[in-house]
Amino acid sequence: MKKSASIFMMSLILFIAWTGVHTTVFADEKDSKDKVLTIAHRGASGYAPENTMAAFERAFTMKADMFELDVQLSKDGELVVIHDTTVDRTTNGTGQVKNLTLEELRELDAGSFFSKEFDGEKIPTLGEVLDKYRGKIGILIEIKSPSLYPGIEQKVAEALQERNMDKPNNNKIIVQSFNHESVQTFHSILPLVPTGVLVGYSSNGLSDQILREFSSYADYVNPSKAMIDENLVNRIHAFGLDTHPWTVRDRQSAQALLDAGVDGIITDYPDYIEQK
Ligand code: G3P
Ligand code: CA
Repeated sequence: MKKSASIFMMSLILFIAWTGVHTTVFADEKDSKDKVLTIAHRGASGYAPENTMAAFERAFTMKADMFELDVQLSKDGELVVIHDTTVDRTTNGTGQVKNLTLEELRELDAGSFFSKEFDGEKIPTLGEVLDKYRGKIGILIEIKSPSLYPGIEQKVAEALQERNMDKPNNNKIIVQSFNHESVQTFHSILPLVPTGVLVGYSSNGLSDQILREFSSYADYVNPSKAMIDENLVNRIHAFGLDTHPWTVRDRQSAQALLDAGVDGIITDYPDYIEQK
């Protein structure tokens, strides 16, 4: 091949290679921006006992973007990860979480109710979960029944501050609650940590006035999936908010939420969120 022809061929190859790299980078940026987050509900609770390290580890290995957990306070004021206000359903013990010390809670088996395979799983502390998963996977912290636990917002804030996890986006932390006063209290303590308001099914829907109010202290409105349609998602977005509805336990619901344009999906089965 003549020298001029070989220079031309080389330039052509370099141009094609550059175009390919450039296109790939652009596509990756677009993908990450448009990606709907998969959020494992109480960990990957379809596959492991809810709110245990086993369920959080399953969410991590399944490559979920985040996992959700529920936090309450023990009798001696420690942040513990459990959904119900009693230990009766998910452990081999009985009684209210708020009436049991951390030591008493840690003696309980929180795995066997799900399957013998998980015999011996413990009720985790929030600190333990943050220490193990910070920077590895996002964590959506639900403050559960805060009216039973005065001061719990301050304690959650301190757990994040102690670990330098109180800055926006660096550790993908969101704090949410059904109790919107609690969300406001948390927001006033750590205004840089993203917050979400949980909303149970309401046939009245969410008015513009309510969405405007939410947008003054929250970043996310997370309704029951039964409330979601494209119109509501567009209205939530119009107020500068994102939405992560709950709780998906079948593939059809997952697809309906994807079609409606949600930003994330809270699910017991992270593998059900299939994005084209
Ligand atoms: O994160 C949403 C979802 O967890 C709310 O319902 O009862 O599972 O805490 P629940
Ligand atoms: Ca929850």
